[in-house]
Amino acid sequence: MLQVQNVSKVYEGKIAYRALSNIDLEIEKGEFVGVMGPSGSGKTTLLNMVATIDEPTTGDVLIEGKNPHALSRNELARFRRRELGFVFQEFNLLHTLTVEENMVLPLTLDGKRVKEMKQQANAIAEKLGIADIMTKRTHEISGGQAQRAAIARAMIHQPKLLLADEPTGNLDSKASKDVMGMLSSLNKQEKATMMLVTHDPQAASYADRVVFIRDGKFYSEIHHGKSRQTFFQSIIDTLSLMGGDDSDFSPVRG
Ligand SMILES: Nc1ncnc2c1ncn2[C@@H]1O[C@H](COP(=O)(O)OP(=O)(O)OP(=O)(O)O)[C@@H](O)[C@H]1O
Ligand SMILES: [Mg+2]
Repeated sequence: MLQVQNVSKVYEGKIAYRALSNIDLEIEKGEFVGVMGPSGSGKTTLLNMVATIDEPTTGDVLIEGKNPHALSRNELARFRRRELGFVFQEFNLLHTLTVEENMVLPLTLDGKRVKEMKQQANAIAEKLGIADIMTKRTHEISGGQAQRAAIARAMIHQPKLLLADEPTGNLDSKASKDVMGMLSSLNKQEKATMMLVTHDPQAASYADRVVFIRDGKFYSEIHHGKSRQTFFQSIIDTLSLMGGDDSDFSPVRG
């Protein structure tokens, strides 16, 4: 489904900064992969390469065998809209629109019928527990509700590949569990392939596999075994072995 081949990224500037070095990552169709690492380790950079938002300096990203960076602008826009779903570190909801309007936006762009769009939006909102705020504008809802609205928007067109950057970053543990449960059932039921960047070991424990990066390099990876609890513990152990800046792993110490 997704192949990241020997990808490096150097941000040019007054001082060039190497954010990723020789990253290899393969994600199977239907697989749910978590990406963890200290702040500044290159997680968002990696996600942006896969999301076709930014280009690798060297190396290739292939999605279903195709290099999206080789497409024309129009083809790329269509590819993103049809095949990919994004949940960004900031939610990127449009403030002048209601929750429902935000949700159906990807479908509007693809020229779907209003009735069909509303049905889909309602079904997802129901699952995410935001059905009662559909007519509110985004400044009238809480951070957690905004996060769920952003997730709803990212999955409404049933993308083949869902990319999420800290989708539980601003949620309390209950809301975070709900969101992860949802993403996990989207992965299991709709067979959506998912790549999830997170600092939260609890959230990462829903993945089939967690890849750790440090200083822009691959550090290690671990697989989900029998229970989520055991996996959670291995994630915490790996994080503490890996070290990193203190603020990152407060949930681990707490
Ligand atoms: N556009 C840019 N120009 C220059 N340097 C950048 C740019 N974007 C990111 N960087 C640098 O690249 C490194 C990796 O950044 P990235 O955003 O990928 O980290 P991250 O792992 O997502 O961190 P966090 O967990 O804090 O979100 C950082 O040192 C960052 O300062
Ligand atoms: Mg980031």
